[in-house]
Amino acid sequence: MSPVVVLVGPPGSGKSTVAALLADRLRKAHRDTDTDIEAAAGKPIPDIFVDSGEPAFRAMERAAIVAALQADDVVLSLGGGAILDPDTRADLAGHTVVFLDVSLGEAAKRVGLGVARPLLLGNVRTQLKNLMDARRPFYLEVAKWTVPTDDRAPEDIAAEIVEHL
Ligand code: S3P
Repeated sequence: MSPVVVLVGPPGSGKSTVAALLADRLRKAHRDTDTDIEAAAGKPIPDIFVDSGEPAFRAMERAAIVAALQADDVVLSLGGGAILDPDTRADLAGHTVVFLDVSLGEAAKRVGLGVARPLLLGNVRTQLKNLMDARRPFYLEVAKWTVPTDDRAPEDIAAEIVEHL
């Protein structure tokens, strides 16, 4: 009763992209808690932050994670801040959790090209650095292993994870 693998890492680490490729390779479904939260709320994450604030978002995220960790046969990607919750870190202990590691420079580049993230408005590089520094010990705490992602194609990262499973 568990996802096949759970991907964690900061914004810009490639969790959703790699999880989708990994799910294809393993012939499983891809589930993403940010997507689940948006479906439950009926609006995009930036709107949840604006309308209800971060604590309300974190409560929704916690509920989405509790539900998703019950799902069999899925590859699960979590939002970058999911590991801030001590209950979530405890719940992840029994799961195959992989930390997608990324340098600040690479993450800033990827985030700059991607969708809007409410915690990364203004000076993206400084805010991302603060998030990454504060969260790194938590990613390492929950992960069974760490995969570096700089200068690597998402397909290669997915292939490496499949080999280790
Ligand atoms: C967040 C990361 C986002 C999303 C929300 C909060 C964070 O997910 O859950 O905007 O606290 O780092 P990604 O890691 O997929 O960007």
